[in-house]
Order: sequence, then structure tokens, then C-alpha cells
Amino acid sequence: MAILDETAFDDGDEDYGDRDNEYDFEQGLAHGFASDDYMVKDQPTGAGDRAEGDAETQAVASTQTHADAPEDGAEDWDATAAISANGNASDPTRDDGTDGSKRKGRAKAKKQQRKNAAALKSAHKVAAPTLFTPFTLRGVTTRNRIWLPPMDTYSAFGRDGRPTQFHYQHYVSRALGGFGMVIAESTAVSPEGRISPCDVGLWEDDQIDSWRWIVEDVKKAGAVAAIQLNHAGRKASTGCFSTGHINATVPEDQGGWKTVAPSPIPYGHYDMPRELGVDEIHGIVEQFRYAAVRAVNAGFEAIEIHAAHGYLISQFLDPLSNQRSDEYGGSLENRMRFLVEISDAIRSAIPESMPLLVRISATDWAAGGWDLDQSIETAKVLKMHGVDLMDVSTGGIVAGVTIPAQANYQVPFAQEIRDKALIPTTAVGLITKAKQAARIVHKEQADAVEIGRAALRDPNWPLRAAYKLGLDKSEIPYPDQYVRGAFGTSR
Ligand SMILES: Cc1cc2nc3c(=O)[nH]c(=O)nc-3n(C[C@H](O)[C@H](O)[C@H](O)COP(=O)(O)O)c2cc1C
Repeated sequence: MAILDETAFDDGDEDYGDRDNEYDFEQGLAHGFASDDYMVKDQPTGAGDRAEGDAETQAVASTQTHADAPEDGAEDWDATAAISANGNASDPTRDDGTDGSKRKGRAKAKKQQRKNAAALKSAHKVAAPTLFTPFTLRGVTTRNRIWLPPMDTYSAFGRDGRPTQFHYQHYVSRALGGFGMVIAESTAVSPEGRISPCDVGLWEDDQIDSWRWIVEDVKKAGAVAAIQLNHAGRKASTGCFSTGHINATVPEDQGGWKTVAPSPIPYGHYDMPRELGVDEIHGIVEQFRYAAVRAVNAGFEAIEIHAAHGYLISQFLDPLSNQRSDEYGGSLENRMRFLVEISDAIRSAIPESMPLLVRISATDWAAGGWDLDQSIETAKVLKMHGVDLMDVSTGGIVAGVTIPAQANYQVPFAQEIRDKALIPTTAVGLITKAKQAARIVHKEQADAVEIGRAALRDPNWPLRAAYKLGLDKSEIPYPDQYVRGAFGTSR
């Protein structure tokens, strides 16, 4: 086959990074993002260029020692074999009574010891994953470690919480584009829990079918279909591109509603929320449980609890927004109670084989508030309550803080939580380039990366990244129909 000049199709790494200065949330708001979760001040321009500037070679080493068993299957991990090699060995120091046989016994013992040592060494030598190494959580395996994070599209235009054809196209095209997991956007567990009137939901059974066709085709395209469940609390009832009132509370006479929170403390200039009673808190835990059951019925394969970005659960976690004096406020144990109860409720309602993820803001970037240490402690507890992975973001809880956003700025949080709470994590935030993403996974700073806005620019980000990283076409998850248009081919 004649190959035209491939560079004609090779836009260079700028594909991912030259537009990092699009990390301009003011512009985002102008396009209608409903809240300023993602508002970043002091955004340095050219952050991506710096990331590429400190480039190391993409392959750090072919193997790397890791104290834990790998999460991605047993090919490189033969601990069982090593242990049984030890356990089955006859006692090499045993004296069999004769001098000759003693010598033979000692030689045999040494040989066996050497074999055992080699087996143990190789058992602990685990191949470091690549971006395209599959990743298993419980009974679910993603084909790679490039995931689509939840991104609210505010496109349930009927204001009935039902996803639309837009959602179908948005999610299925990214599954066709090679993402390993597609996490559907913030999905409300009750009408009052919506961030905006146009948010999707799973608060009633009638909404299940509107999700099912999307989920089916996301899965057919090879991605794991996950959904993020949320209650927006004091950050509910905000505007979006189709409702107006951007970055403000939507008035009740225009489709908005009264908001609730752990304490009557507003977020920035949003309306004052009403403090939740304990019975209401229990009721919201049940709403999460039933939304999860509906998600299972719709065919989703993983559930993510939204405990980040200043929505209701993170309002409970953060001492700056939670000033309750009952069992849901005060100590860290009390502040995390709501999240733990939700995790328990969902875990008990979904199949054992189904992964449960929690998205957390690892810090609120504010003095005296929520921080990394509390996040680590919370992750340790969640792990004991059946949570399988922490999706690590930051911010969105306290208005007006300065976030030092630049390439990889949230990666160290994912790494710390992974290393200290010994739970898998994903990293997200200004990860825009293939090599950058590959390094994060290969250095085991996180188990997977999430590509947000760069995936809004390019639904085929994973396919393009695979090509950039030099994978053979046969290893790249092109849909059959698109193979002839593979990156790097000329016709
Ligand atoms: C339009 C938009 C909508 C978003 N909606 C959500 C959401 O529903 N839930 C959530 O946890 N994060 C949401 N986020 C945050 C993203 O998941 C991601 O963490 C953030 O964009 C940073 O990653 P990036 O730099 O790769 O875009 C949203 C971001 C954008 C740009």
C-alpha cells in the first residue's frame, strides 16, 4: 500500500498541548458551565509546554518492583507459584544419616534455596503498566488506563433528568474513540440534587430506559460504562448555557429550587441553603442507594459517588461548610459518616463484582479546611467499606481560592492517596499529552488517567495517543469500520 507522507497526518504533540491555555474557566463559563467548580485563578499559560519540557523518555523501565500485587491480572505476578515453591520444598537441612547423603542434602538445599530466592524475586518483580495495559477492578476490566471523567453537559433539555440523543452521541463517540472507561456525568439522585435544571438524573424508574441505549452502545464499542451519582446540595439549582443564570442560583420562579446543605452556609454568592435534618440525611442515603440500583438496571458496570467539588457529600466532609454538632459534624469520623453510609448503601445494593469508585477533592485549597491528610484517612475507611478506587480531583468547595493549576498539578494527590491508603487511584487535571499520560501510569503515580477537556476537543484521544506512543495498529482499539482511517495511514 502506498504510504503518503505520514507527517501530513501527524500534527505533533501540539495536538494535546498547544491549547492548554484553554484552561480558561472564564471562557468556560462564557460557554455556560453551570458552576465555578472548575474556576481556576492565576492560570499560567503554556502549562502543557512546560510538561513536555520536563519530558523523560516514555518508557522508564520494563519492570519495576512493587510491594503490592498488581491489579491488572496475573501474567507477571506468580506469587502463588513462588509461595508454593517454598512451601512444597522438602526440608533441605534435614540430615539423612550418611556423610555422602549429608553433602548431597546440603547441595540440594542450596540449590533449592537459590530456586526459592529466584522465584520470590521474580514474584516481586512486576512489570510496570503502560497506558494500554488493561486494568481490573473486581469483575470489570478496562481495556486501557485512559478514562473519560464525568463532565456535566447540562443537556437534559426536557428538564426531566433524561439523557438525550446528544448524550448518546457524546458518550458513544468517546467509547468508539478508544476510552477504557466512560464515566457519565454528574447524575442527580433527586430533582433537588441536580446542579442545574438540565442535569441528568436517575431518581425514578422511568429514567432507566433513556440511559439503557447509551450504555449498551458504549459497551459495544469496547468501553466500560460507569456513571457518577451526585447530590449538589448548596451548589444545586445553578444556571447553565440553556437556562442562563450562569454561575448563579436560578430563581424559583424560573425553574430553580431551594437548596439544602449540612449547615446554613452559602457557597460564594449562591443562595443561602437550608440545613438538613437527620431524617432527611438518611433519606438522601436511600436516594443514592436506589439511584445505584437503577444504574445497574440500565446496564452500567461501575458506579462513582461524587464526593468532590463542593457538592453535598464534600460539603459534609469539609469543616468549613459543615458546622453541625450532631453525629454528622465535628470530628473527621462524623464528617465522613454521610459518605460512608452512602458507600455502604450502594455496596449492599449492587453486584459484588461491580466496582464502586469515589471522586474526592483531595484539598479545598483553603486554610483550615479539607486537606490531603483527611483525604487519605477517608480513603482508608472507604476501602474497608467496599470502595475500590479513588478518583482524585481537588477544589470546588470554597469559593474564591487560588488553585495552582498547571500540567499534572493533581497527580501528586492521586499518588499520595494511592501510596498511603493503599487503594487504586486515577489522576485527572491538565493531562493533555500522550507521553505525559503514559509517564503517570508507568511511574505508578496513579492506576489510570482521566482526560477531560482534551477529550472534548478530540473524542479519539486514546486512538491518537496510541499512535503517538508507537503502538502497532493491530494493538490499537480501532473500531473495524475506522481501521482504514487509522492515524498514520494515508488511505
Ligand atoms: C464541562 C465540564 C463539566 C464537568 N462536569 C463534571 C462532573 O459532572 N462531575 C465531576 O466530577 N467533574 C466534572 N468536571 C471536571 C472534570 O471531570 C475534570 O476533573 C476537569 O475538567 C479537569 O480535567 P481536565 O483538565 O482533563 O479537563 C467537569 C469539567 C468540565 C470541563
